[in-house]
Amino acid sequence: MNDRTVWWEAGKVRMIDQRRLPLSYEIADFETVPGVAFAIKDMVVRGAPAIGATAAYGMALAAHHSTAAMPAALLDELRQAKRTLDAARPTAVNLSWATARLLQLAERLAANGANVARIRQALLDEAQRLADEDVEINRRMGRHGAAVIPQNANILHHCNTGSLATVGYGTALGVIRAAHEAGKNVHVWVDETRPRLQGARLTAWELMRDGIPMHLIADNAAGLLMRQGRVDVVLFGADRVAANGDVANKIGSYKLAVLAKENGIPCYAVVPTSTIDLSLPDGDHIPIEERGWEEVVMIGDTQIAPDDVPVYNPAFDVTPHRYFTGIITEEGICYPPFTESLRRAKEAAEARIRQAQTDFV
Ligand code: MRU
Repeated sequence: MNDRTVWWEAGKVRMIDQRRLPLSYEIADFETVPGVAFAIKDMVVRGAPAIGATAAYGMALAAHHSTAAMPAALLDELRQAKRTLDAARPTAVNLSWATARLLQLAERLAANGANVARIRQALLDEAQRLADEDVEINRRMGRHGAAVIPQNANILHHCNTGSLATVGYGTALGVIRAAHEAGKNVHVWVDETRPRLQGARLTAWELMRDGIPMHLIADNAAGLLMRQGRVDVVLFGADRVAANGDVANKIGSYKLAVLAKENGIPCYAVVPTSTIDLSLPDGDHIPIEERGWEEVVMIGDTQIAPDDVPVYNPAFDVTPHRYFTGIITEEGICYPPFTESLRRAKEAAEARIRQAQTDFV
């Protein structure tokens, strides 16, 4: 089994096919930018950081297969590749964050007189660096987050935020892993996460492989468990965080955060700074993806609702910032007022990336 969710090999973007797990473990290969965009849209790969890394490899793929002789022509192709990849899924900002990072690097190299071969190699190196950084960032978030997980904690977790949602280790699940590795004797209530069942299919698979104690629960069980005092902390990830700390994440997250506050339970979002979008003032500005009827009407190959039933299937919801105890990033835990703390975390991370690229360009 590969220890990464997505990787580059011999001119191909390779990934674990998450549509098939846990019943079958298969690797899917993509060699074109439209192919990579399809993989993101169809959720062969999913989870905000994982689709960011995949899109970065998609940009490297565009350069790798380009026949452009001059940098200006290559830049045009990269801009087109960015448009194709960014359109694959609208909510996770990591996608356009990653493609922008690669395009800007290419533009800077071209402005400094680099030729096509040099830009091509630099984009592949940058995509690899972004993927490596993702794992390192997740481990840092894990260390910060583990500090707020009590001994013997019962943790309620939504969707899949693990290795599979990232390049490796995970965000909220990375915090759980770090707490487990620190010997905190944690137990996880795993929300099944209808309609795509990322909790039942993917989070349960990851936790069981790691030997972390867990129970799978129907999404509707969360309120009962919280009221019975059987949840000590609620953790989930994010696909986009607005400047004020409002968090877009998998549909159902908002309900959990409200229940947590009602029951006096701390609730954290675990978020790499690449998921913070300071250009949006609040969560009302975050685009919410709507997905197809078949995700609600079908479970696997089995239809569970009448033919032609009208369906509405929003894939994400927005939790207002007031419901969060804190937002855990690789730069540390951000506390209210989030407008200040998130901006400081984002600036620190951007300075680090700029410095690395300056050394490189
Ligand atoms: O639709 P998905 O499976 O891509 O949604 C994933 C989530 O909502 C995750 O919680 C989010 O991307 C953060 S995980 C690192």
